Amino acid sequence: MPVITNINDLKRIYERRVPRMFYDYAESGSWTEQTFRENTSDFEQIRLRQRVAVDMSGRSTASQMIGQDVAMPVALAPVGLTGMQHADGEIKAARAAEAFGVPFTLSTMSINSIEDVAEATTKPFWFQLYTMKDEDYVRRLIERAKAAKCSALVITLDLQILGQRHKDLKNGLSAPPKLTPKTIANLMTKWAWGIEMLGAKRREFGNIVGHVEGISDASSLGAWTAEQFDPSLDWGKIEKLKEMWGGKVILKGILDAEDAKMAAKVGADAITVSNHGGRQLDGALSSIRMLPQIMDAVGDEVEVHLDSGIRSGQDVLKALALGAKGTMIGRAFVYGLGAMGQKGVTTALEVIQKELDTTMALCGERNVADLGRHNLLVPEGFEGRWQD
Ligand code: GLV
Repeated sequence: MPVITNINDLKRIYERRVPRMFYDYAESGSWTEQTFRENTSDFEQIRLRQRVAVDMSGRSTASQMIGQDVAMPVALAPVGLTGMQHADGEIKAARAAEAFGVPFTLSTMSINSIEDVAEATTKPFWFQLYTMKDEDYVRRLIERAKAAKCSALVITLDLQILGQRHKDLKNGLSAPPKLTPKTIANLMTKWAWGIEMLGAKRREFGNIVGHVEGISDASSLGAWTAEQFDPSLDWGKIEKLKEMWGGKVILKGILDAEDAKMAAKVGADAITVSNHGGRQLDGALSSIRMLPQIMDAVGDEVEVHLDSGIRSGQDVLKALALGAKGTMIGRAFVYGLGAMGQKGVTTALEVIQKELDTTMALCGERNVADLGRHNLLVPEGFEGRWQD
């Protein structure tokens, strides 16, 4: 087994191990992928301020997100089809997160169901909701998340319709994969993945198969979203969902100061500054570039988290130093999961925590709560407002 020292090491193993269709699903953005690329390259533009002769002993990455204690302010983001990256992927990722002490978020578009994950874990996880036209189904989904004792509802606002991802269309993405000559040829080279998948609890979308009617192809993400997702979701409906849930709500997919103000107004417990990992509106600016103006707009009113582009503990530190209280990682944990199952997710979290801790020390900080703009060197114009 190679020595894993960073997230890219996991990505290399992941690419070899997992069928191309699912690797491509995770590793793509929409259309030209400009936003997907800039989510990571914009982090590289921000530099760190080295400080010396500061007592570095007794450091801690521990913090809180929406009032919950976390070993570091890094939650696992909701990722669709996680159970196709590794057999029982959602269960394994949730267990790794629980043992590490960070929140796990189960996607509506997961393979393992809400009940599967609740049964396999002992602490509450977060549930991510997509709203469907079928209001009864949404109500039942919320009831299922309540019955599973989920401790937050993460409502994703930036995917009422699916951004076009060329590779998914060309690969005929589905769960389970349809056995075309191209898929079969690829699966034959991924035997370890296949053997484990034969023993998986589920190989279909666990929250919909058997729960929703009227989908022409329940194995296709494209068909499901086009036929079922509610294109009329607005702030009024968000308020109703919040009321129906009655617990902590995180509004995810905010990339604009005006929307951030609306989210604060409807009483969100937190917002996630996100462009869905560059998978939705290609051409949007990166999350990290939008963070400062969103902090200016609502930083005093609502807790702010950030996702999209985080691949290291240094990226986490940069987001925190620009004001975020927490972050989410998607691809960074999926690489670990695809590479080595639960152990790989734990490794991804360990890598990120170590990078965060060491970087904090070299910046002269002992606690994540003390991080701030004073730790960064940001190029002129980075925080500047682009013209509407
Ligand atoms: C779903 O959330 C996706 O981005 O595919």
